[in-house]
Amino acid sequence: MHHFNYHNGQLHGESVPIADIADQVGTPFYLYSAATLTQHFKAFDTPFSPIPHLSCFAVKSCSNLAILRLFAHLGGGADIVSGGELFRALTAGIAPEKIVYSGVGKTRAEMAYGLRERILQFNVESEQELEVLNEVAAEVGVIAPVSFRVNPDVDPKTHAYISTGLAKNKFGIPITEALPIYRQAAGMANIHVQGVSCHIGSQLTEISPFLESLGKLKKFITLLQEAGISITHLDLGGGLGIRYDQESPPHPDEYARAIMEEISELNCTLILEPGRVIVGNAGILVTRVLYTKQGPTKKFVIVDAGMNDLTRPSLYGAYHAIKAVDEHLQSTEIVDVVGPICETGDFLARDQEVPVVKSGDLLAVMSAGAYGFTMSSNYNSRPRVAEIMVEGEKFHSIRHRETYEDLIRGEDIPDFLQESSS
Ligand code: LLP
Repeated sequence: MHHFNYHNGQLHGESVPIADIADQVGTPFYLYSAATLTQHFKAFDTPFSPIPHLSCFAVKSCSNLAILRLFAHLGGGADIVSGGELFRALTAGIAPEKIVYSGVGKTRAEMAYGLRERILQFNVESEQELEVLNEVAAEVGVIAPVSFRVNPDVDPKTHAYISTGLAKNKFGIPITEALPIYRQAAGMANIHVQGVSCHIGSQLTEISPFLESLGKLKKFITLLQEAGISITHLDLGGGLGIRYDQESPPHPDEYARAIMEEISELNCTLILEPGRVIVGNAGILVTRVLYTKQGPTKKFVIVDAGMNDLTRPSLYGAYHAIKAVDEHLQSTEIVDVVGPICETGDFLARDQEVPVVKSGDLLAVMSAGAYGFTMSSNYNSRPRVAEIMVEGEKFHSIRHRETYEDLIRGEDIPDFLQESSS
């Protein structure tokens, strides 16, 4: 499943002892396994090989250039949601004709950038966005390839913050109201309508919501065909979940089989936007214990990584397993694992069974590859941590730890404040 295992009592990333990496690069750091990334990309992509398809990795889940380059080498495309992500994807070497652009709030400048680069498709989420895209395409002098993101009103049965395909969510155009917009787009001078898109949520652990929404999409595509609008691209988004704890999400094989069975007669190129299922279990966060403290009602393990480095536990109440890097630390206790940030919401684990540790011990926060580093911040003026990639017996820095100088880069003190105060 992944390549973070114990050998001789020491947790390794592939063949490298994690304690050795910590000694050389300091803590905290994110550690990704190249073999796991490759294996997970192929496990997701290969089952779709019987049909024309494109796996566009969701850049938001893990956007380091080295990781994007690895997927580019494997033939992957990118699902982007900002000009910044487009810049990253292109810089990493992902071909523009494999890039799809999602999101409810694309600016004119971002649209122009995507159009100039000739990306595969804009997933348009509103009528106003369509009108602006038509205008910008005319200014750039190109025809914009468009798919509409429709909202099928399907419950993905996941955390409310990451459910996106319900009628009450901000995403997409209600599927029941989308036909007139397709008609309107078909008549626009600088728009080429090519697809239907949908993304109903993230960390889905059942297949049924995917199939429910696919059923609605198929009916809708028939409606479009009857209206004389032909669809060549079907984008089913991402969302396939992973195991953090006790979840048992469908295997990518099962997911692919179920989808391919449903769409066999559609004759479309299938686009997928997987993020978490590829990178989630391919990355961990390594942190060192600073102190332990027994409070009146619970014990705290204070580590050098905080909610600014890994936000998921604070923001979603997400569970991440925590392992000792030294396997000999076998006895466990129920504690809160907390960071140095000045907020009670700063925790990596709450009332969780973790190994009994002391100051100086190393801990591995598992399944942190997706939405880990990408959601990190400089809160409390903490430099963002290093990102490391292991590859067999070697490890490589793929992002250096920020310095204090990095923290203030871009900040200016205006002239009227230049004189020192008396
Ligand atoms: N496509 C679109 C349009 C999306 O909005 C997303 C995720 C994906 C694809 C990729 O979904 P995935 O395969 O990774 O589930 N920060 C949250 C997750 C937010 C997901 C946002 N959209 C978390 O840490 O759980």
